[in-house]
Amino acid sequence: VLALLPSEFKSAVEHIRSHLPAELARPKWGIICGSGLSTLSSSLTSRIEIPYSSIPGFSRSSVQGHGNALAFGFVTGGSRQVPVVAALGRFHLYEGHTPQQCVFPVRTMKALGIKALVVTNAAGSLSPTLPIGTIMALHDHLSLPTLSSPLNPLVGPNFPLGPRFPPTSNAYDTELRTAFFRSVASLGEKSLERTAEGTYAFVIGPTYESRAECRMLKTLGADVVGMSTVPEVIAARQCGVRVLALSLVTNVVVTTPYFDAKKAALAGQTGAEKVEKPDDDKEAANHEEVLAIGKERSEEMRTLVCKTILGVTDE
Ligand code: 6GU
Repeated sequence: VLALLPSEFKSAVEHIRSHLPAELARPKWGIICGSGLSTLSSSLTSRIEIPYSSIPGFSRSSVQGHGNALAFGFVTGGSRQVPVVAALGRFHLYEGHTPQQCVFPVRTMKALGIKALVVTNAAGSLSPTLPIGTIMALHDHLSLPTLSSPLNPLVGPNFPLGPRFPPTSNAYDTELRTAFFRSVASLGEKSLERTAEGTYAFVIGPTYESRAECRMLKTLGADVVGMSTVPEVIAARQCGVRVLALSLVTNVVVTTPYFDAKKAALAGQTGAEKVEKPDDDKEAANHEEVLAIGKERSEEMRTLVCKTILGVTDE
């Protein structure tokens, strides 16, 4: 594998391995921790962190609530000890990173030897059946940015560890998803009620969606919407890495009816009578709310990710 790699990945792998003991140098699983979910890595044993700023080829994430390091360690349970690498913080298109920079960590993980990847994110719900706090396993995505533009991270020279024209119809691994729901079931009825599977719509951000945009995404078949994950999933699938992707619903998108300005004018109002306005600011999505729910539900997310990793024995 190393012989085929472009030189920037060789440098990254060499640097990373120079900081790791042999038993962590070939992690089996990668984990990408989304907004407020970096505590996912706190259950790793023999943990070693390598800052992004020290790794050749890595950019730096600027988002609040994201770390900036790769964490190596073991997920431990029963008689098993699985070496993993967790990315604490990711690179988003909305930060100005190129699509290729966004997927550099995933490709580096592949070069280090991962066979499977857990990608997590915070997302907004487009569906009344997915309330705040729901953990949704992705079974598909809807990616307008990558569908027909050079924002697809595979545009450019082909990454040599996989095909030029990979499918994405099979992106979300059925066995990993089933293992995930076995883990959910082992936690009991309440966990089953708060999990689901569905389709993730990828948008670039950093703006949250308008109401018309939310209606469009819903009409097109999406259940949640977010600003990450799909570039990493595309890159992982291209080089043969199996994917489990999980969205934590941190907020519900705004769908309230529009303020009727015409009616207000005829009633002698100015439009500034705030209390009565259905499309007031309090409904708008905000980053603090996203981080707070992430914190609250991250414990369950962490348990489920570890149980799932331990429950898959043929990775
Ligand atoms: Cl409502 N939209 C997007 N694009 N990303 C989100 C979100 C909403 N909530 C959390 N992340």
